[in-house]
Amino acid sequence: MKPNNGIEKIIDEKTQGNTLVLANDKKNPRKLYIESYGCQMNFSDSEIVASILSKEGFNTTQNLEEADLVLVNTCSIREKAELTVRKRLEKFNAVKKTNPTMKVGVLGCMAERLKNKFLEEEKIVDMVVGPDAYKDLPNLIQEIDEGRNAVNVILSKDETYGDVAPVRLNSNGVTAFVSITRGCDNMCTFCVVPFTRGRERSRDPQSILEEVNDLWNKGFKEITLLGQNVDSYLWYGGGLKKDFDKATAMQQATSVDFAKLLEMTAMAQPKMRIRFSTSNPQDLSLDVIETMAKYENICNYIHLPVQSGSDRILKAMNRLHTRAEYFDLIDNIKRIIPDCAISQDMITGFPTETEEDHQDTLSLMEYVKYDFGFMFAYSERPGTLAARKLEDDIPLETKKRRLREIIDLQQTHSHYRTKQHVGKTEEVLIEGTSKKSDAHWMGRNSQNTVVVFPKEKYTIGDFVNVKIKACTSATLLGEAVGYSKNN
Ligand code: SAH
Ligand code: F3S
Repeated sequence: MKPNNGIEKIIDEKTQGNTLVLANDKKNPRKLYIESYGCQMNFSDSEIVASILSKEGFNTTQNLEEADLVLVNTCSIREKAELTVRKRLEKFNAVKKTNPTMKVGVLGCMAERLKNKFLEEEKIVDMVVGPDAYKDLPNLIQEIDEGRNAVNVILSKDETYGDVAPVRLNSNGVTAFVSITRGCDNMCTFCVVPFTRGRERSRDPQSILEEVNDLWNKGFKEITLLGQNVDSYLWYGGGLKKDFDKATAMQQATSVDFAKLLEMTAMAQPKMRIRFSTSNPQDLSLDVIETMAKYENICNYIHLPVQSGSDRILKAMNRLHTRAEYFDLIDNIKRIIPDCAISQDMITGFPTETEEDHQDTLSLMEYVKYDFGFMFAYSERPGTLAARKLEDDIPLETKKRRLREIIDLQQTHSHYRTKQHVGKTEEVLIEGTSKKSDAHWMGRNSQNTVVVFPKEKYTIGDFVNVKIKACTSATLLGEAVGYSKNN
């Protein structure tokens, strides 16, 4: 979808009688180039940033060379993610030599983690903006326009950007992210997110529903409700999750939890597909699973990171559940929604992890047989409890060998899962042309597995019934047999 290019501002301001500014904006829009790394939340945040800056007369561009302002929305989750961003800054530096008026801003988790240090370490950076400070961008840009460096890394108790309508970037016009919570209170000992994104707060359900309705009216067919820990969603009129017990009796009685929000969303747009991410095992309730089962438009897929199969390591990670409790949860999901897909995140080589702990992870995977997964070698993050209290004592070679073993096992399980779809006819939402063939569409079934099939008469955004004929470990191959009843 084409980003808002300042014209909206012209209309807005004209009604307020301020045409002078507008004329400038119209004749001379500045060009914003924005690049995002890391989690889906960062991609969603960049759409909020683009929206805020479109009101300041910035057009987005895909062409780095012509940009007046380059923003990079950064990730701190592992050291490698930070190194990738530093490499990109080198590239921006080279471009700046040919375009000396270009300004460079760093957004997101690295901005929050490194703060002023960024300006010292990376001379190319003009502006550092943390994840809760995007509404201050107009002021910060004025600062850099006047030749000063600008920094705002203040974390907020209540900022959810619920009142900012995101400008959809690189959109297929079919699927979109809708953020519902910010921050995380879980304090997993390996994780930098609670430090970079602050305390957990939830967005007003009314503004969530408005965004969902608006997306439907614009032709979108699928949304993913986003948060670091969506199951912990709790709206009681604003404020931090941890202050819920200080809310009035009335606020508590009328509060909205995640199961309720899911239901409200599913009912508001019964034909819109609804997904959500990420679920934390300790917070995923039976209510949520039952709500998923009750509404056909809520997809049968849960991303349920576990990180390790060893009780000892789970404890050291401050994951607040045991291996047995996790199995109970998996059993409940499969009992209530037999065809529910489940995916994982895993970490190998957390401090003190033994071969026995690693075997526990493999056996946990064997029990669940995840549909897919995202697996990482432990990367020590400065400031986390693990970094302060535990020595990063597993040799890189061992971390990597264990990682290889869990990736190989996941590959086997993924293939086992995709094979179960062969022979079935499944509803697929078409998202775009297959990467490998112009003659084929690519879409997903309810379980979030990619399905590829010949284009025939169908088009992007159609719900199509596809007979699955073959599979690889990651993709289903099929043939359309007609529109689905939801089309
Ligand atoms: N709740 C979040 C999790 C964010 S981090 C979400 O919305 O997805 C994503 C994954 O990165 C985690 O589940 C974990 O598996 C991995 N991860 C986090 N910190 C890590 C670290 N220090 N080293 C290696 N992997 C890490
Ligand atoms: Fe990180 Fe754990 Fe929260 S992985 S984002 S602290 S649930």
